[in-house]
Amino acid sequence: MAAADQIKSLIKSFGDGDEEHFFASAMHIAASEARKGHTTFAQELKFLIEKARKNRSLSFLDRNKTIPISQSKRELHELIEVFQPKIRLSDMILAPDVKVALIKLVNEQRKWEMLRQYNLMPRRKLLLLGPPGCGKTMTAQALAGELGIPVFIMRLDGLISKFMGESIAKLRLIFDAMPDHRGVYLFDEFDSIGSHRNQGQDVGEIKRVLNSFLINIEKDQSNSIIIAATNMPEALDKALFRRFDDIITYPLPIKSEVIDTIKKNLSGFKFSERINYQNLAKDAEGLNYSDIVRACEETIKEMILHGLKKLKKSDLVTALKKRK
Ligand SMILES: Nc1ncnc2c1ncn2[C@@H]1O[C@H](COP(=O)(O)OP(=O)(O)OP(=O)(O)O)[C@@H](O)[C@H]1O
Ligand SMILES: [Mg+2]
Repeated sequence: MAAADQIKSLIKSFGDGDEEHFFASAMHIAASEARKGHTTFAQELKFLIEKARKNRSLSFLDRNKTIPISQSKRELHELIEVFQPKIRLSDMILAPDVKVALIKLVNEQRKWEMLRQYNLMPRRKLLLLGPPGCGKTMTAQALAGELGIPVFIMRLDGLISKFMGESIAKLRLIFDAMPDHRGVYLFDEFDSIGSHRNQGQDVGEIKRVLNSFLINIEKDQSNSIIIAATNMPEALDKALFRRFDDIITYPLPIKSEVIDTIKKNLSGFKFSERINYQNLAKDAEGLNYSDIVRACEETIKEMILHGLKKLKKSDLVTALKKRK
């Protein structure tokens, strides 16, 4: 059974309405039960916690969808996903220089008023580049989680295809919202406007949207964080690069990062045999973080569905190799 102080902490956090602490206390109980060898109970508990966490975050999203951009601009909601993320930078495995750049931004944002007193602007405009599944979108969420502000995720390809002829006005609405609704504004699929190549769409419209983006981002004096992300940096117009405070490239994970990702995503579970992580990293060579996370999830599922108490190495190896 869980220790008395764990149960007290659980009840206290519930009473305080401190959701994050409540889930963390419940996870502690799951972890200590796992250590005592009560693996089935621990897994059931972990599963229930994940499910509850997910439901809570989704209901939060519904409540928030109506907050930032008024009802009259409802159509914009279809293009923007708004929520209050719970993840933090510590939930990510990051290359050292990426981590340094992100921590710098968070520190400057936290000491925002101090910098403003000296007429200095904190870092807040980021261009994130790199292959799919390496954490660009996740970074926007983690920064919002770190600063306790909502994230607004906007897909630019949708903006152009859906609001042909009106996309500039829609883009303007988003920039207008920034001063009053501090948040992390992620312009995802940025290459769909930032590209200097003709991709068969209305090039005139795309160029106008890009110009409007450049003007808006330059004029913007809000204290929101603006992030543009793309996995096609080579297609970006060079004029874009100097509008951002930092350009951060997300590489594929190196061996040690692969191992950290596997360990993090399988924490609380045990393997039925000894694991050589160096060999596992070889099996995962060339995969992105997203592939590795999914492979870990598949391995856990296999264990649950086969009624086992421990993970099978072969399930993980198969799941990793399948993704190559
Ligand atoms: N650096 C990371 N650390 C931990 N998990 C990660 C990391 N990067 C990606 N993941 C996992 O992969 C999932 C997908 O990552 P994300 O959406 O951030 O990729 P992306 O770089 O935005 O890809 P795309 O270019 O396709 O949009 C995340 O939800 C997370 O589970
Ligand atoms: Mg993304």
